[in-house]
Amino acid sequence: MIVLGVESSCDETGVGIVRWNADHTTTLLADEVASSVDEHARYGGVVPEVASRAHLEAIVPTMRRALTAADITVPDAIAVTIGPGLAGALLVGVAAAKAYAAAWDVPLYAVNHLGGHVAVDTLEHGPMPACVALLVSGGHTHLLHVTDLGAPIVELGTTVDDAAGEAFDKVARLLGLGFPGGPALDAAARLGDPNAIRFPRGMTGPRDARNDFSFSGLKTAVARHVEKCRRDGIEPPVADIAASFQEAVADVLTMKAVRACVDVGVDTLVLGGGATANSRIRSMAQERCAAAGITLRVPKPRLCTDNGVMIATLGAHVIAGGAQPSELTVATDPGLSV
Ligand code: KG4
Ligand code: ZN
Repeated sequence: MIVLGVESSCDETGVGIVRWNADHTTTLLADEVASSVDEHARYGGVVPEVASRAHLEAIVPTMRRALTAADITVPDAIAVTIGPGLAGALLVGVAAAKAYAAAWDVPLYAVNHLGGHVAVDTLEHGPMPACVALLVSGGHTHLLHVTDLGAPIVELGTTVDDAAGEAFDKVARLLGLGFPGGPALDAAARLGDPNAIRFPRGMTGPRDARNDFSFSGLKTAVARHVEKCRRDGIEPPVADIAASFQEAVADVLTMKAVRACVDVGVDTLVLGGGATANSRIRSMAQERCAAAGITLRVPKPRLCTDNGVMIATLGAHVIAGGAQPSELTVATDPGLSV
C-alpha cells in the first residue's frame, strides 16, 4: 500500500510518500517540502496570511515533485493534516488533498499533525512499542502516551503558556540572534557556560502538575537579566545567557519526559517536533534515558521539523489499524487536540 501525506499546518508545505510493508514497517519513497520560513523572517514570526498564500503557490509543484521522486502516478490513499495549526494554512492542504482524492478516486484520511510527529520515527527505527512521546516545536509542547499509532493517543500534559520552540524564538530575538531563533540560539549556546546563570525551571514545584510545562517565566527572567546587564553598563553575555536558557529548557523537558515514562510504566521515549533538533535537548535526553534504563528514539533532524512524510506514515498506521476513510466534506480543525 502506498500512502501520500499532505502537510500544511504552519509554514511548511509538505508532500511525502511512503510504502506500508507486510512486516508493518514503512519505507520512504518521497519527501518534498517547500518552506516559507524566509518570507516570515522579516516579521520575526510566522504570519498566517503569508503562510496561506505560500501554501497555495507551493502545493501543486510540491505534489508533482513528490510523485516524480516516488516514480508513481497515483497513490493508494491520501492522508492529510486537519489540525492543529493555522486555519488558513490548513485549508489549503485539505482542499488540495480532497481535490486529488476525488480526481484519483482514492480514499482520504484526515489525521492529527501531532500524531505525525510521533509516527515518523517508525521510518528509521521500525515498529513502535508503547511509549511516551515528547513533542516540542514552535507551536507545541506535549507529553503524550502512545500505545498504538493506529489508535487514539492520550495527552499526559502540555504547556500552560508558550511552546518551548516559541520560547527559543523569543529569547533568540531578545539576544539579537534572528528568526527562526532556535538553531541560532543552539549555535550561540555552544560557546557559553550552561551554569553561568541559574534561570528558573517552571512548573517543577511539588504542587505543580507533573506533566505540564510553563516557559513564560523563564522568558521573562532572561529579559530581566538582559535589562539588568544594560542598566549596569555591561554588554549582555549572549553565549552564557543562551547556554543557561537552553540548559533550563532541556532540564525541564527531559526531567518530565523521563519521569512520565516511569509514571506510565513504559521503557521507550520518543522525541519529535522542530525543537528536538536542539543539541542540548538531545544530549540531555540521552544521558537521562541511559541513567533510567529507557530506550530513546529520536528521528533525524530533517524528519523532526514539519513535513509530509510524517503525515503519510501516520496515515499508513491509521489505515492498517482499520480506520474508515474520511468524507470528502471533512473540515479542518485548527484547535484539534490529540
Ligand atoms: O516542528 P517545527 O518545524 O514547526 C512547528 O510545528 O512549529 O518547529 C519549528 C521550531 C521553531 O520554533 C524553531 O526555532 C525550533 O523548532 N528549532 C529549534 C532548533 N531547530 C529548530 N529550537 C532549538 N534548537 C534548535 N536547534
Ligand atoms: Zn509540527
